[in-house]
Amino acid sequence: MARKIVAGNWKMNKTVSEGVQLVEELKNELAKANASDVTVVVSPPYVSLTEVVKTAAGSQVEVSAQNVHQEASGAYTAEVSADMLKSAGVGYVIIGHSERREYFAENAVDIAKKIDAVIAQGLTPIYCCGEVKEERESGNQNAIVGGQIKDELFHLSDADFEKVVIAYEPVWAIGTGLTASADQAQDMHAFIRGFVADKFGKVIAKETSILYGGSCKPTNAAEIFSKPDVDGGLIGGAALNATDFVGIITAFN
Ligand code: 13P
Repeated sequence: MARKIVAGNWKMNKTVSEGVQLVEELKNELAKANASDVTVVVSPPYVSLTEVVKTAAGSQVEVSAQNVHQEASGAYTAEVSADMLKSAGVGYVIIGHSERREYFAENAVDIAKKIDAVIAQGLTPIYCCGEVKEERESGNQNAIVGGQIKDELFHLSDADFEKVVIAYEPVWAIGTGLTASADQAQDMHAFIRGFVADKFGKVIAKETSILYGGSCKPTNAAEIFSKPDVDGGLIGGAALNATDFVGIITAFN
């Protein structure tokens, strides 16, 4: 069975002290919740990582970065490498978020290299894929998402692919309040699992966590998470509030 994971992507939100406070609140709420079988991840901005790692230490909360540079070191002003993230105590790295692809021109070659850099450091990539509105409207979503996965993940060995968490985030549902229906999410997740099975085999596909992201809230998470191929969520806006985030973490049936 794939691991249940709920990861919060804070994007460009929260100062260092606000981030620490959010994790303190999250720890308190999680202590009262019945969700010990769920892997809980928060992804603060780079500047907050070390403080958030300290605050989360010894708790259920694990820490992710929102990006990484593909090179190990060098003259890449303002960039951060995978071994720096590892040295900060980070366990996960979000890679290929649609906002990185759209606003910062990350392409498939960059993303494939970032995946390699993160796996080489023993960190877990949370790999994002998803189609834009026009691609969904023209019925091309499977071809688009399949193409992304093929170009960005299919170079991996079986052993390395097993370390990857996939997040399906339909771009039209991110921050828009428009959620994919639970059936739309299930259809895509089943497609992704089948596509992965064709390349890496059924056993690995079954163990791969496939998260849904895009306007996921406490009010719709239970229905989405009840679907057999949905193993959790990658949460934006609703991860900025501990009560809402825990409402999602506890939404598994
Ligand atoms: P929202 O939950 O705010 O739609 O964002 C989803 C997302 O992009 C998570 O990475």
